[in-house]
Amino acid sequence: MKQLYKQSSSSPSSSGQIPYSSKPLKPRSQSLPRSFAQRLFFLLLGALIASTLFFLHPYFSYSHPSSSSSSSSSLTHLESGHLPLYSHRPRSIPIPTSTGPKRIPVGLKKPSKRIVVTGGAGFVGSHLVDRLLDRGDSVIVIDNFFTGRKDNLVHRFGDPRFELIRHDVVEPILLEVDQIYHLACPASPVHYKYNPIKTIKTNVMGTLNMLGLAKRIGARFLLTSTSEVYGDPLEHPQKETYWGHVNPIGVRSCYDEGKRTAETLTMDYHRGADVEVRIARIFNTYGPRMCLDDGRVVSNFVAQAIRKQPMTVYGDGKQTRSFQYVSDLVEGLMALMEGEHIGPFNLGNPGEFTMLELAEVVKETIDPSATIEFKENTADDPHKRKPDISKAKELLNWEPKVPLHEGLPLMVSDFQKRILNGEK
Ligand SMILES: NC(=O)c1ccc[n+]([C@@H]2O[C@H](COP(=O)([O-])OP(=O)(O)OC[C@H]3O[C@@H](n4cnc5c(N)ncnc54)[C@H](O)[C@@H]3O)[C@@H](O)[C@H]2O)c1
Repeated sequence: MKQLYKQSSSSPSSSGQIPYSSKPLKPRSQSLPRSFAQRLFFLLLGALIASTLFFLHPYFSYSHPSSSSSSSSSLTHLESGHLPLYSHRPRSIPIPTSTGPKRIPVGLKKPSKRIVVTGGAGFVGSHLVDRLLDRGDSVIVIDNFFTGRKDNLVHRFGDPRFELIRHDVVEPILLEVDQIYHLACPASPVHYKYNPIKTIKTNVMGTLNMLGLAKRIGARFLLTSTSEVYGDPLEHPQKETYWGHVNPIGVRSCYDEGKRTAETLTMDYHRGADVEVRIARIFNTYGPRMCLDDGRVVSNFVAQAIRKQPMTVYGDGKQTRSFQYVSDLVEGLMALMEGEHIGPFNLGNPGEFTMLELAEVVKETIDPSATIEFKENTADDPHKRKPDISKAKELLNWEPKVPLHEGLPLMVSDFQKRILNGEK
């Protein structure tokens, strides 16, 4: 510009005189080699720019907003999970998307949650599903019906917010949800000893699959562990800080050690992969929809008394258990899932009964003339079990409310109906 300005300001005057220049004009022959080199330089530069533009053309045409067809086809490839074998598109070019961050318009309610309940066709799971649906959430149940029953959920089949998937958690599954309640696992000794290899697979591989899913979709994960992780405890009542006294090679270890491993996996996914996790250690729970003959002491006594059979007491009947009504457990699980604390938390009713005392309550509720039959105790049966629930009381603001004499009649009327209907 400077040069041009100088030239224009010193352009030949109308008089045709040569303008004044302080520098002497150079002879023409001296400037020839330099102008040739300049031309050559510009020629090469031009060729370089042209070839660069030629090669870059596909990049520009991809990111050009008008080329919607090319971008949408690339998106289709991405969405379908198949990248084209050959593509000009470098990875750093942002993919145009139509959806921005979702905002809830002012005045609208927070959307309900999408929740998976594995083992949702079982005893505890089906009560949890009812409670979640009643709260307004959408629920997907995953169950292989090993011990669960469609009957437990049939009253929900017409609900558009409810889905039931027959699936074994030992196999992976992909779903989009906000929370995962992981209950799938046979819970009674009769069922978990039936196929111990399957039980430990369910506990280990099933939990791994569900944790993997939680990690992938950013869902919060709750594990229903068990008081069995304390084994035959040397500390009484059991606090969450107690590490347990478990036989790792016994007939119950597929369940006890399986659940201990499931707890380990849960904490490892939390520490190593930032998954939001919760752990509940559930103590003996009873209520409607339990399996009739699953070997658990309350269901055994109730079913036997209704059928006018003697109630079977294993050992001397002085071993103690605590019994929590299922609605109390469900409230505890939901408080844990929604709260800020990982756990583990004991969820149980600290009221302690010997087996003989329980048999007396069942007699009073069903049939005062019911009798008791003593049998040899099973291996590794814990002598004492009673939760210390002070942690759940303090941090979850939770404690059980339904005493045995109120909960038992509700279970008895459900069992009476089912036994009368011929259910096995
Ligand atoms: N009920 C209790 O007293 C108690 C005590 C401690 C812990 N728990 C735990 O609570 C959870 C629920 O127990 P529950 O009493 O409702 O037992 P349940 O047997 O009634 O329910 C378990 C459910 O899981 C399903 N299931 C089992 N294996 C599966 C698999 N591989 N894939 C998919 N589904 C599978 C069963 O079909 C069933 O519907 C279990 O994890 C159990 O360990 C229960």
